[in-house]
Amino acid sequence: MNKSLAQRDKEFVWHPFTQMKTAPEPLEIVKAKDAWLILENGRKLLDANSSWWTVLHGHCNSYIGKKIAEQYQEIDHVIFAGATHPKAVETAERIVGALPNHFSKVFFSDNGSTAVEVGIKMIYQYWHNKGISKKRFLALEGAYHGDTFGAMSVSQRGYFNAPFEHLFFEVDYIPVPTDENYKEVLAKAEYILKTGEVAGFIFEPLVQGAAGMRIYKAEYLDQLIALAKKYNALTIADEVMTGFYRTGTLFAINQLEQEPDIITMSKGITGGVLPIGLTVATQEIYDAFLDDATTKALLHGHSFTGNPISCAAVCANLDLLESEETNQKIETIVGWHKAYFNKIENHPMVDKIRQAGTILSINLKDEADNGYFSNIREIALNHFWDKNILLRPLGNVVFINAPYCISEGEMNSIYKAIDELLEKLSK
Ligand SMILES: Cc1ncc(COP(=O)(O)O)c(C=O)c1O
Repeated sequence: MNKSLAQRDKEFVWHPFTQMKTAPEPLEIVKAKDAWLILENGRKLLDANSSWWTVLHGHCNSYIGKKIAEQYQEIDHVIFAGATHPKAVETAERIVGALPNHFSKVFFSDNGSTAVEVGIKMIYQYWHNKGISKKRFLALEGAYHGDTFGAMSVSQRGYFNAPFEHLFFEVDYIPVPTDENYKEVLAKAEYILKTGEVAGFIFEPLVQGAAGMRIYKAEYLDQLIALAKKYNALTIADEVMTGFYRTGTLFAINQLEQEPDIITMSKGITGGVLPIGLTVATQEIYDAFLDDATTKALLHGHSFTGNPISCAAVCANLDLLESEETNQKIETIVGWHKAYFNKIENHPMVDKIRQAGTILSINLKDEADNGYFSNIREIALNHFWDKNILLRPLGNVVFINAPYCISEGEMNSIYKAIDELLEKLSK
């Protein structure tokens, strides 16, 4: 008898973030189109979280597919040390052109974690090259910056990375600023930064993704960046999740007054189709690596650095994002979310509801308050599954960050499923 896809998977595959002993069978997804995932048994699922927050224009977008195919006819892959190619240069030109003026140079890597890793290495080496000793980092509580060692070091410590904690470098954490605590947070940040030992401050601007789409105010982040600048710490805006209009503007930093020194991007940068990570730095950082000695260079790279096909996907994504149609659609989604926000904000099962652009996040009331391991997660996941929606809550936080191609009817079906979940939980 032929084995099913899930059976063959179980025999040979080790999945990410998964306890393989207890995990249920994986979804057998054989096709994806627009906002939909199609299972082997023919069932269709609405991809409400854009497949790990990556897919911007819907699955198998024909324009991006065409550009990828065209690039494959030109150059598939090429070494990126001592060589260059048109799509990498176009990517760098267009990304720098889309960013505030002080950004200047683009370093290529493969994913969000490596983009962050590169940013951290740039900062440590910046100080090293200048002969200044600064060994600590400042980060926000609840942060998630990826799973490589540097990225783990600056992320929230806990059950996800406990086996490695003894290997991490020194990081000081401050709470995410809110209307209630911001004075204490700023005072704590200043106390730490004043030591002069902080090399860099890293943050997810405006929305902490993995912490449960925790949304916070630009004005408080501005004050934290200003403090970092005052005490000579460089700053990294990790836009791996927030980039490309997720927060309503092209980048979340477009809503800031202050200028971070480094920005990282990945996920939606190719429309969510191919892996690539970018770390963009100021001219001042770049200049600190220029020297006759090779040892002062950033001696970092990956086999697939600057992959031409991934770069072609970046450029195709930028084409789509520049179109009037996409911009209108993003505005429309922001409007739908606003209206739904107003409709449910006073529901007794809604603990908190927040919106940043196209992201809507709802903290459901959980008396047991089990955070990431909230029982509500399981109930909600199964509820959405029954409604043919793939919506993976983070603990008791249900959130929507759907592909921009989603139709009004499809979005309404997600809202309706949330309404029904709220009713179910009220009983
Ligand atoms: C803000 C942020 N930074 C970095 C990462 C890591 O990206 P990747 O999963 O591509 O390594 C993520 C992933 O969720 C993220 O949300």
